Amino acid sequence: MREFAYRLHLVAASRDARVSLRYQPFAAPMLTIRDIRKSFGQTTAVGGLSLDIAAGEVFGLLGPNGAGKSTTIAITTGLLAPDSGSVDILGLGSPADPRVRMHLGLAPQDITLYGELTARENLMFFARLYGIASPRARVDELLAQVELDTRANDRVATFSGGMKRRLNLAAAIVHDPQLVLLDEPTAGVDPQSRNRILELVRTLAAAGKTIVYTTHYMEEAAKLCDRVGIVDHGRMLDVGSVSELIARHGGQSTVTVTRGDADQRVLTSDPVAEIAHQFAAGGVTGVRVERPDLESVFLSLTGRSLRE
Ligand SMILES: Nc1ncnc2c1ncn2[C@@H]1O[C@H](COP(=O)(O)OP(=O)(O)OP(=O)(O)O)[C@@H](O)[C@H]1O
Ligand SMILES: [Mg+2]
Repeated sequence: MREFAYRLHLVAASRDARVSLRYQPFAAPMLTIRDIRKSFGQTTAVGGLSLDIAAGEVFGLLGPNGAGKSTTIAITTGLLAPDSGSVDILGLGSPADPRVRMHLGLAPQDITLYGELTARENLMFFARLYGIASPRARVDELLAQVELDTRANDRVATFSGGMKRRLNLAAAIVHDPQLVLLDEPTAGVDPQSRNRILELVRTLAAAGKTIVYTTHYMEEAAKLCDRVGIVDHGRMLDVGSVSELIARHGGQSTVTVTRGDADQRVLTSDPVAEIAHQFAAGGVTGVRVERPDLESVFLSLTGRSLRE
């Protein structure tokens, strides 16, 4: 409900800003977060987190339940004020300013749609709030993009979880924002909806949008993101491309060599050389390589698994 109110607050507050900001030049960086902190009572949700995101980047925020991802997103979009620290969007200032918020689109973790309205009515409603004069063409384009054009006239209350997620994403970008924040856009959806959502993120990225994407799914982050940040206990443990993080924290590969009935496991940073060495020794009947992945990175940084 908090996010629902926010979407209205974001659009309503942004109407007056629309014309004056449309022609702002978009220079990097897109998003600068400096040492933000937020506590709820005794709970530190975000405990001093900084981040720089360049224009056009697809950035993945990875962390387990309660790591502080949604709180970080809420602060970044101006929904929550941090206890301390600052957020700057596009060099224009804080998202507390409605003119700055016009450049943001948020697909909240908790879906914010009207169940009693149809898919098209939902998007038309949000488009009108943003002051888009003739939204029908834009809305129909989005409905097709999220593959809901055949369900456009059905009430959202009758939709599956995946369909709601797709429409939730469409609602976030109806005003064509530069910075799109997607809080677990693929949580609890089937593989078809997931693929549709991932494709849409790629389309947005290809159009030059900046994407901040939170997820528990490492495979997704590895496929989609230019860089990822690993968050736990409200802190950014490290930031980099997936290959950089694996090189820094992933550890060694495991080569399992089979000779007849016997398996031998060898830890190595150069699995190709190890396999060549084993073959040269002779008698190899099987070989398997396990390379470190983001899960290994997470385990090494936090001492626990990303999904537990
Ligand atoms: N409004 C609130 N009131 C009290 N505690 C809160 C509030 N919002 C967040 N928290 C707490 O702050 C911590 C971080 O929560 P947050 O929702 O940011 O995590 P998250 O990384 O998004 O988790 P998840 O993966 O489950 O969505 C948690 O301990 C949570 O219980
Ligand atoms: Mg969350």
